[in-house]
Amino acid sequence: MDPQRLEADALAAVSAAGTADELERVRVEYLGRKSALKLALREVRDRETGMTLNALRERLETAIDGREAELLRGELDRRLTEERVDVTMPGTPVRRGHLHLITQIRREVEDIFLGLGYTVVDGREVETTHYNFDGLNFPEGHPTRSPLQTLFLDDETVLRTETSPSQIRTMEMQEPPVYVVSLGRVYRRDTPDATHTPTFHQVEGLAVDEGVTLADLVGTLDYLLKALFGEERRTEFRTQHFPFTEPSIEAYVSCHICDGPGCPVCRHSGWIEVGGAGMVDPKLFEFVGYDAERYTGFAFGWGLERIAVLRHGIPDLRELWRNDPRLLRQF
Ligand code: PHE
Repeated sequence: MDPQRLEADALAAVSAAGTADELERVRVEYLGRKSALKLALREVRDRETGMTLNALRERLETAIDGREAELLRGELDRRLTEERVDVTMPGTPVRRGHLHLITQIRREVEDIFLGLGYTVVDGREVETTHYNFDGLNFPEGHPTRSPLQTLFLDDETVLRTETSPSQIRTMEMQEPPVYVVSLGRVYRRDTPDATHTPTFHQVEGLAVDEGVTLADLVGTLDYLLKALFGEERRTEFRTQHFPFTEPSIEAYVSCHICDGPGCPVCRHSGWIEVGGAGMVDPKLFEFVGYDAERYTGFAFGWGLERIAVLRHGIPDLRELWRNDPRLLRQF
């Protein structure tokens, strides 16, 4: 064995090793138990040769360790460059959403009334029969008091069937003048169809002051209808009945599809019913301790889903509760 040749070959193989595995093979070949160097060391008889070969072994070990460290450093460098996260790369686009149509209309109505100087108040979705019926002058035996129409939690607790209980709560809390709107969910034991869902939203309005008249109510609703459906819409008010208003009226808006002559959307009448209203029955003032001789007031309660389907020509009210983004995205 020629130690110089062996050293030259071994060092060349060490620098040629490009991976930890390759380097390990080189180590086995030149320093392993069956390597030429180890075999030669076993055969050594004189001191001189022994020192030469041991020195060679040490040099090879140093060279291999050095190369090993070099490879590790290289691997680290590679990972630092290749696996770096580039924060300037454009990300996966996220589609920007928007508010549900009912929430948009809710805020729109709130804005309209804030602009008229009203305050927005919250009501309760879980109500007592006292506020939902008695305080609103519903007679005993009124069909709405039946568990067939109203969702009862117990004998005296219901999911409110309308936002009108907020009238009573507001009047109990403050003295006139009162100018408030209250918007939120209401619940009725209805089977869902194209024009009904068991949960829906209403806006309740209440104004109580000295000298408030039916003309003020009609003027306010006319303003609201035009703000919601457009200046070109005509409005009409017809008599109705509610236990808590006297007189009571129902608001109609000219059909946005045919504008008068009649079509399937307005059931061939040219008019679409939007919701109830009326002058607050003086009995309610007695309940809450207002002076019924001094004050008069009006109230109205309209469905937000109804406003949405009328304004946007949505054929089925249930669509607003299905929450299919393909529909909601359009509004
Ligand atoms: N609460 C009535 C309803 O749900 C609407 C209404 C409110 C009527 C206020 C008159 C006054 O149908």
